[in-house]
Amino acid sequence: MAMILDGKRLAEEVRGEVRRDIEALARGGVAPGLAVVLVGDDPASAIYVRHKGRACAEVGIRTFDHRLPASTSEAALLRLVAELCADDAVDGILVQLPLPRAIEATRVIASIDPRKDVDGFHPENLGLLVAGAPRFVPCTPAGIMRLVASSGARLEGAEAVVVGRSNLVGKPVAALLLAANATVTIAHSRTQNLAATIARAEIVVVGVGRAGLVRGEWIREGAVVIDVGINRTERGLVGDVEFAAAARRAGAITPVPGGVGPMTIAMLCANTARAARLRRG
Ligand code: GUN
Repeated sequence: MAMILDGKRLAEEVRGEVRRDIEALARGGVAPGLAVVLVGDDPASAIYVRHKGRACAEVGIRTFDHRLPASTSEAALLRLVAELCADDAVDGILVQLPLPRAIEATRVIASIDPRKDVDGFHPENLGLLVAGAPRFVPCTPAGIMRLVASSGARLEGAEAVVVGRSNLVGKPVAALLLAANATVTIAHSRTQNLAATIARAEIVVVGVGRAGLVRGEWIREGAVVIDVGINRTERGLVGDVEFAAAARRAGAITPVPGGVGPMTIAMLCANTARAARLRRG
């Protein structure tokens, strides 16, 4: 039976580290501030944003909430982002995704000051990550790497398979695994034989958003399995991996909920403290 990688506990540990860092910043008169922008009324996004606000308050980060209606124009959102870029009290800017369809997310992300881009999604920050000199590592990938480290798995020379190629998760996590000297394969919806690809993997990261996409019997004995999926089904929240069957083969596995999710939020706190340090530390 696999070791269950407890993201809730590990996230608490990370928030403790961040709280101590913020206390040190406070002694120098620096109070990190995070602007959180939520456009529209996607219920899942509203829940994430609430959790982010709570975690920030707990570690001593001030948050500035901006709730805009779904009808907001791209020009209006770009104006708000420009104001937040110019606001000295704002160290980090987070625009919750997805945005309403009428707004081009890539233009909004590119308009964020890269030194305030605590999501790490700005092309400059993604470029620095790929170049091996990260400024802000995107929160979910950073949390995943911390979970993998907590499993004790050796990454050097290991076969790692990332399922999903999003800019938010798949691509950055592949860059981080590569930087840790893993042999990295990125699988996606056009991959011919997903079962055979996953069967090779000593580390598997799945972030697609399809309940039960990865079958338990595909998992290599002893593999570390990181499930980024959050799918609402009639059985409640489930990941992209068939948990019970995978846990019988894996060496370590993240649960859903309580695995990657809490780590994403803890890493956002860490990135915001880092942004404050970079700008004013
Ligand atoms: N939507 C889902 N995950 C994220 C994230 O990490 N950051 C932002 N801004 N939006 C998201």
